[in-house]
Amino acid sequence: MENKYRMLEIKAPNIKHLFEPKSIAIIGASSNRNKIGYKVVDNIVASGYQGKIYPVNPKGGTILDSKVYTSIESIDDTIDLATICVPAKYVFDSLKSCAKKKTKFVSIITSGFSEIGNLEGEEELVNFARENGMRLLGPNIFGIFSAKAPVNATFGYKHIEPGSVAIVTQSGALGVAMIGKTATEGIGLSAIVSVGNKCDIDEADLIEYFITDDNTRVILLYIEGLKRGNRLTQVLEKATKIKPVIIIKSGRSKRGAMAAASHTGSLAGADNVFTDIISRQVGALRALSVQEALNWAKFLAIQKSLPVGENAVIVTNGGGIGVLATDACELYGVTLYDNREVLKEIFSPVTPSFGSTKNPVDITGQASNEIYEQALQAALDSPDIHSVIVLGCETAIFSADQLAAVVQRRYLDDKPDKPVVFSFFGGGEFEQGLFALKSKGVPIFSDVYEAASCLGALYKHYHNIINTDDELSELDDPEIDIKSIQTVIDEVRADNRRFLLVPEALRVMNAAGIPTPKSYVAKDLEEVIYYAEEVVKYPVVMKIVSKDIIHKSDAGGVALDLENRDELLDAYEAILASARKYKPDAKIEGVEIVRMINMNEAMETIIGARIDNTFGPTVMFGLGGIYVEVLKDVAFRAVPIKRSDAIEMIQQIRSYPLLLGVRGEEAKDIGGCIDIILRLSKIIQLCKDISDIEINPVLVFEQNQGVLAVDTRILLNP
Ligand code: COA
Repeated sequence: MENKYRMLEIKAPNIKHLFEPKSIAIIGASSNRNKIGYKVVDNIVASGYQGKIYPVNPKGGTILDSKVYTSIESIDDTIDLATICVPAKYVFDSLKSCAKKKTKFVSIITSGFSEIGNLEGEEELVNFARENGMRLLGPNIFGIFSAKAPVNATFGYKHIEPGSVAIVTQSGALGVAMIGKTATEGIGLSAIVSVGNKCDIDEADLIEYFITDDNTRVILLYIEGLKRGNRLTQVLEKATKIKPVIIIKSGRSKRGAMAAASHTGSLAGADNVFTDIISRQVGALRALSVQEALNWAKFLAIQKSLPVGENAVIVTNGGGIGVLATDACELYGVTLYDNREVLKEIFSPVTPSFGSTKNPVDITGQASNEIYEQALQAALDSPDIHSVIVLGCETAIFSADQLAAVVQRRYLDDKPDKPVVFSFFGGGEFEQGLFALKSKGVPIFSDVYEAASCLGALYKHYHNIINTDDELSELDDPEIDIKSIQTVIDEVRADNRRFLLVPEALRVMNAAGIPTPKSYVAKDLEEVIYYAEEVVKYPVVMKIVSKDIIHKSDAGGVALDLENRDELLDAYEAILASARKYKPDAKIEGVEIVRMINMNEAMETIIGARIDNTFGPTVMFGLGGIYVEVLKDVAFRAVPIKRSDAIEMIQQIRSYPLLLGVRGEEAKDIGGCIDIILRLSKIIQLCKDISDIEINPVLVFEQNQGVLAVDTRILLNP
């Protein structure tokens, strides 16, 4: 596989030719207006495409004034993009013809490949394309629109409004519907690409292009399943620091995932892994619905620049919607400015005594449109306020027309240099009047949650941009004895096993520098005192060590919770005496000194690393012990991770307050957890034989008291 990709890197044409083709062949072009092969030619012509159009059909003739070529070979030109719309059984032959013409990109509209189980047919196409330096879009797609060319090589809508949002969609029908919906919402597109079965070109390839495309300000992806999640992660890591990337990922629920899997033929990954990696780790903006994604896309695309800070202010004429908006801001991570002195100074001239200058600023239901305008202007003028949420409930005091005029003057005409989002709520006339503004590009919603979620998306993007602490520092690269781990793995392999036995797992933990409960064998009283007082430290457990005594407790060979020298000496004497009495001929090697763990002092966590089917090497942190399965309070990240990622994972779990200490407890040793996460991250990345490591529990003691990997399971790849 890797070889193929390497080959592809050498031969692959620049993806620019897909978006700015100089020549397009339509294989399966038809003069029958009801066929896809006609629609594609019609759309290309209608889009004002300036390059060469070559319809191909064995019958010849003309379609829409373009000469039809009886074969692609008979075209006397090189082809940048070929669109195939012939039945599946002819696609491979058409691809062969494309190769003869040194075609760069082939968009295969035809269905009937992996989505219906025809994996071989699809693989044949990809392998052939790779061998011949061609790249494939699809199959099973509606095509591609690029505003840059411009070219509409789809069989969807004839007119696509150009703009600055680029859409990549795995679902064809939803993609076509999104073209319609974006038009009614006033969202222009820089491109829309249908990727279908993603046999070759996928989201990651396209995002790489959109990062550099000046036309594109916002990237929006609709994803059902991922094939190369690790590559998408890498590309998104770069992209989200430049442009906002909005993702709609279906298959969140179990049933949804099953539907998505059967729909596209590719498995939707476990949703929590997807959310943690794509949204939390690399900062894509995950929308819950298509409408939410489009709201964000529109809002983000119209921003002239990022906000200069986090201080958001809500201006409202209704207390109720003000409180609702406050809740919504908390939900979407919008920080409400709370400097009461400053707010009072700004807003008291426009707020009656029974209103409130605190945030949300309530200018009350008696506010006239003049007061409304003054309040909005005050918020826009203040350098302390960085973004504004303007709320309006219908009242008898002003009409929709008057309010619309305020928005026209202060937003559309003045073009404020800070983000503003509006939410107006009322009856038919009120909404109609105001929503006419929507078509003029005003971000206006009837629901305050929609308005706040737009601002939340903008602030998430803002955080991606300002948090540039990226470099993997030395601290993030713990020292691990990989050679010793490999020796253990080789022994396990030699024994034809895929799982490690307890002592083997312990050796791996030692080589990884991960603390495990240590046991020390003391041969005499002097060593007993040394280990108990200098190494393990009280309280300790003492156990008899003798190959001849298997059931140690039965032999009186175990003493728990020894807290001082006296108890230690008594126990040593008693254990030796009982053992001799139990089995007089037993050969006694000494006693084992182990730390006595008080479970009340420690919190049980789980730390793991595994090769995920979609994302490759990943790490996991969560609440451990016997509740793991029930509570599923875990966080995932793709490897390699930075220290800041490990910290975020820990902070993400719901049980995080327990690690900070509740009811007067001391905080736990979070640093120890971070260290183990980073070590497992490195092991799963470097030891290609290991498929799973799970330490459960990792006992986390009080701060600076360390952590202990109590039970470790390690599995090797088959
Ligand atoms: N080279 C060029 N043209 C060829 C050809 C070849 N090797 N073989 C056949 N053709 C011509 C046909 O003669 C026909 O032209 P005509 O109308 O002049 O006779 C045209 O190509 C199309 O072939 P036809 O057999 O009529 O197929 P069709 O138009 O009914 O269906 C597809 C073709 C690709 C549309 C169909 O197979 C398909 O896959 N449909 C689903 C598409 C889809 O939904 N994609 C996903 C969207 S999200």
